[in-house]
Amino acid sequence: MEFERLNGVAQNSDEIKRRVEHVKGIIVHHPKYEQLLEELEMMLVLSEGSVSPEGLYIFGPTGVGKSTVTTEFTDRYPREIVKKEDKEFPRIPILHVRVPPKATPRMLASKVLEIMGDPFHHKGTESELTSRIHHFVRSLGIKMIILDEFQHLIDADTDHVLATASNWVKTFTEEIRIAVVLCGMPESNKVFIRNGQLDRRFCNKVELEPFAYGTPEEIITFRIFLKKIDGLLPFADSANLADPRKADKIYYISKGIPFYVMKLLENATFFAVKAGDDQITESHMARAMLKIKQVARPYVVNPFTDTNFGLEAVIRGETDAMTRYKEKLMIKKRKPKKSS
Ligand SMILES: Nc1ncnc2c1ncn2[C@@H]1O[C@H](COP(=O)(O)OP(=O)(O)OP(=O)(O)O)[C@@H](O)[C@H]1O
Ligand SMILES: [Mg+2]
Repeated sequence: MEFERLNGVAQNSDEIKRRVEHVKGIIVHHPKYEQLLEELEMMLVLSEGSVSPEGLYIFGPTGVGKSTVTTEFTDRYPREIVKKEDKEFPRIPILHVRVPPKATPRMLASKVLEIMGDPFHHKGTESELTSRIHHFVRSLGIKMIILDEFQHLIDADTDHVLATASNWVKTFTEEIRIAVVLCGMPESNKVFIRNGQLDRRFCNKVELEPFAYGTPEEIITFRIFLKKIDGLLPFADSANLADPRKADKIYYISKGIPFYVMKLLENATFFAVKAGDDQITESHMARAMLKIKQVARPYVVNPFTDTNFGLEAVIRGETDAMTRYKEKLMIKKRKPKKSS
């Protein structure tokens, strides 16, 4: 896509939208992302026609890219219509399903059928729905099923593992004879702790972590990630994101989670295009920060307005403020209530 020079001419909402949408679509193949794509590719090959197909569990915190990587992999094998003896057959090589919250086996089976395109996905008992899935897996040529949002097998209100649903997944995985990928937040580990058999079937567990920023190698890896994003931004000039000081600031606000990096740049793009600027500057990022609030980080400072920013000092300041806040809370709790 071409992005012409704006030369300081303020842009209309169409152009702002076009460029912000472009940023939303940016995906960078960082090393861990690439490694996961390879792992999925290998699974697909090893599982086809195998007596005991592979299972894989991908876990990591919110915004790290689990859905992005599994969706990209799914899109590599698009759905198609195959013609055979004047008849047309739909083909779905990989099925990507989001587990519904508080899933019962029936809800889960119905969701799988819905994504397969079954118009009657809500009709029938649990076992009828399950046997329809088996039928469709064969007739649609499905080679892999990805169950995303696996933590939905834990009831968020009670924190209990939904035992019947996790058993359904276990039996389903054993009987379906195709590759199954589970994908979720680290708390879904609890499902495996409660269900040892499921744990054994998914002993291949891969973590998608946020970028780390301790050793020189880790810092370089994060800066390369930023450089690649920079090269894809919709502006005539580079934002120079990989500059060590800018990288420190972006790491500080994102803690290495791609979601926050991209959210920052998405909002900064908005302000830059609106003003007709030809690159994202720190002043755009400073404004963008006002639109990114993390409840878990009430004492985060805006690094883009801080002329003396030092990563270690700022992290220490934030941690200290958080500790003082927690201590205050504890003292309040300990104070005995006045008796009336
Ligand atoms: N490799 C990447 N390159 C660029 N952006 C990325 C990458 N991975 C993730 N992102 C950004 O982070 C956002 C969140 O990613 P995603 O939805 O895949 O996270 P998730 O791990 O599935 O989180 P959740 O557990 O909340 O579902 C994406 O919309 C995208 O903007
Ligand atoms: Mg996700």
